[in-house]
Amino acid sequence: MSVSRTVLITGATGTVSTALMNALEGADVRLRALVRDKSGADGPRERGAEVVVGDLDEPRSLPPAFEGVQDVWLLTPNSPRAPENNMNAVWAARQAGVERIVRLSAVGAAHDAPNRSGRLHALSDRETERCGMRWTILRPLWFMQNLLNEAGDIAATGSFSLNMASARLSMIDVRDIAACAARVLLDDPDRHHGRTYTLTGPRSLTFDEVAGQLGLALGRPVTYLPVSDDAKRRTLLGYGVPRWIVDMVEEYAQAYVSGWGDFTTDTVADLLGRPPRDIADFARDHAAAFTSAAGR
Ligand SMILES: NC(=O)c1ccc[n+]([C@@H]2O[C@H](COP(=O)([O-])OP(=O)(O)OC[C@H]3O[C@@H](n4cnc5c(N)ncnc54)[C@H](OP(=O)(O)O)[C@@H]3O)[C@@H](O)[C@H]2O)c1
Repeated sequence: MSVSRTVLITGATGTVSTALMNALEGADVRLRALVRDKSGADGPRERGAEVVVGDLDEPRSLPPAFEGVQDVWLLTPNSPRAPENNMNAVWAARQAGVERIVRLSAVGAAHDAPNRSGRLHALSDRETERCGMRWTILRPLWFMQNLLNEAGDIAATGSFSLNMASARLSMIDVRDIAACAARVLLDDPDRHHGRTYTLTGPRSLTFDEVAGQLGLALGRPVTYLPVSDDAKRRTLLGYGVPRWIVDMVEEYAQAYVSGWGDFTTDTVADLLGRPPRDIADFARDHAAAFTSAAGR
């Protein structure tokens, strides 16, 4: 009789890892969730995970979380410290005898990527490739769920403002990233070892087209208002978003405006045996979030 593998979920209170725990519901794996603070334990616990407190900034806090683990889902936060966080996790995994790391990177991660986040992810991708364990790297494009940040404006005014000009990008539903991660984690560790998967949605879209799809799902018009980098920067800083994140959003927007995200891959369909979700699916499934004044 085979014994279930234990999967350590990092970023366990966040968007992608929550979707991953949902995707693994009912699977023959034991889930363990790393949280920085006990206050984040409820979501992972509701999804059947054992919760261990630890901080990827703090290597000495990590051994209990990694002990007895076969697979690590490794997600680093949007931060200039992301490579340090990845390093701490990879080291803890090596010490604990982990067999496999499945890492969330980002589209276009490379040493010459036009954005700091992409160059930081490249550092951790290189480290993961040399980690001595089996590894797989997922590089998703822009998340459809980022649109939930605009839900308050859309609910209140019927419009949303981004510095994306007429960028076309093949945005992906986080539920499909999670389904791909779950597929990899549930397959034999050798099957996806050494592979880097770039994950996109089914088609490239402008934000005018996104607005059109949101309008159809909500039954009332939604308008996309392109704004300048400076205007978006002022808005985000006004909301108290940290400067590094504001810079990151701007650098991604500039890359996407230059056509960086205007391509699709078949990878999601190849991994899942079905096409990725379309923006129409996302809009329909999240219509309530875009109509309530509270947004998300
Ligand atoms: N948004 C996009 O379009 C996009 C596209 C491609 C790739 N990505 C990548 O996706 C990742 C972000 O994923 P997400 O949106 O799911 O993240 P998220 O919702 O922002 O959640 C981040 C998670 O990381 C945890 N965390 C932060 N600092 C930590 C630390 N020092 N130690 C342990 N845990 C820590 C947070 O825990 P707390 O609850 O304690 O804060 C939270 O669970 C980034 O690597 C980003 O580059 C994003």
